[in-house]
Amino acid sequence: MYKINEDYLKLQGSYLFSTIAKKVNAFAQENPDKKVIRLGIGDVTKPLAPAIISALHNAVDEMGNAETFHGYAPDLGYEFLRNAIAKNDYQDRGCKIEPDEIFVSDGAKSDSGNIQEIFAKDNVVAICDPVYPVYLDTNVMAGRTGAFDEAAQNYKGVIYMPCRAENDFVPEMPKENPDIIYLCFPNNPTGAAITKEQLQVWVDYANKIGAVIIYDAAYEAYITEENVPHSIYECEGARTCAIELHSFSKNAGFTGLRLGYTVVPKDLKCNGVMLHSLWARRHGTKYNGAPYIVQKAGEAVYSEEGKKQLKEQVAYYQKNARYIFDHLKSYGYEVYGGVNAPYIWLKAPNNMTSWEFFDYLLEKANVVGTPGSGFGKCGETYFRLTAFGSYENTVEAMERIKTL
Ligand code: MLT
Repeated sequence: MYKINEDYLKLQGSYLFSTIAKKVNAFAQENPDKKVIRLGIGDVTKPLAPAIISALHNAVDEMGNAETFHGYAPDLGYEFLRNAIAKNDYQDRGCKIEPDEIFVSDGAKSDSGNIQEIFAKDNVVAICDPVYPVYLDTNVMAGRTGAFDEAAQNYKGVIYMPCRAENDFVPEMPKENPDIIYLCFPNNPTGAAITKEQLQVWVDYANKIGAVIIYDAAYEAYITEENVPHSIYECEGARTCAIELHSFSKNAGFTGLRLGYTVVPKDLKCNGVMLHSLWARRHGTKYNGAPYIVQKAGEAVYSEEGKKQLKEQVAYYQKNARYIFDHLKSYGYEVYGGVNAPYIWLKAPNNMTSWEFFDYLLEKANVVGTPGSGFGKCGETYFRLTAFGSYENTVEAMERIKTL
C-alpha cells in the first residue's frame, strides 16, 4: 500500500490566497448587487505594455514558420534574454553577474518554492514573520520542519524573525544560527524596504556563519528611495552567500504570462560544490523552460520602448500606493509600506483581529484585502492592501473606507 507524504499534513489550512478567493466568491454570489473591489492578492490589472504585445505577436508568427519555429528552450533560458537580464538588472548597476549565472523560469513563485530542494533536509531555515507563505510551506512539505505548535502558533524547528513596527519591519539577527535565510525586500507583505547598509550586515553575517540567503527581489521596480538596493549583489560578498529571485509579474505585468529568473553565482559553494551545478541539474531534469514567446516578451521588457512603457506602468501603481497610504493615514489608520513597494500594511482598527477586519471590510465596504495573520503570527492585527487595482477602484475603495 502506498504512503502519502505526511509532511503535507502538517500544513495549516489551505493556501492563503485560495482561502480568500473562496470567501470572496461566496460573498459575491450572495450579494450579486454589490460591486466588490479586490485589493487582496497582488495581481496586476493593467494590460500588457504595447512593446510586449508586439514582441508576443512577432514570436507567435515565428512559431508558425518552419524557418523560425522554436521547440524546447535551452536549459537555462534563451541567451538573448539572459544577456538582457545580466546587462540591465546587474552589470548596469555595477553588480558582477554573468548571463550563465541566470536561470530563466516560469516565475518567482515556483523558484522560491523549488530552490529548497537543493539543500539537505536537516538545514535550519530562518524566515521573517510575517512572511510570503510559499517559503515556509514548501519547507514544511519537504519535511524540513517539525509539527505545527498550536499554542506557539509556529512550526517547530523553524527560526522566526519578527518584523514589527519597532524594528521598521526589518528583522534582527536570530539568536541561533540558521543555515538558510529567506529575505524579501522590498517586502511582501509589509511593504518595508531595507537599506544597503542593513543588507550588507546580513551578507556579512551569512558569510561568517556559512549560511545561504535566498533573496526575493520581486518588488525591486517599486523602489523610490536612494540607498535601497535593487539587488543583493550590490552588497560586497553577496556572490558567496546569496541566491536571488526575480519576477516579471510586478514590474511588467506578467502574472498571467509567467516568467521569472533565479541567479545562482558560481562563487556560491558548499564544501567545494557549486550550488549553480545543483540548480542546473534540477532545472535540466525537472523543467523544460519558459515558452519561447514568453521569453521574447521578457526580452522586450529591456528594450528602450519597453523600459519607458513599464516605467509608466509601475508609476501608475506607485500612485495608487501613495493614494492608499495618504488617505488611510488621514483617516487615522496606522499605516506602513507603500513607498518602495506596492503593498500597504495597516493596523486593523479597534483591536480587531486581521480576519475580523477582513470580514468587516468585505461586508461594510465590499473591499477585499489580505489578513496579516495569514502571513504569520506577527501579522496578527495587521492587514495588507495592494496598489495593483485600477486608480478608479483605488479611489472608490478609499471613499468607502472613509465612511466606516
Ligand atoms: C501576493 O499577493 O502576495 C502575491 O501576489 C503572491 C504572488 O506573487 O505569488
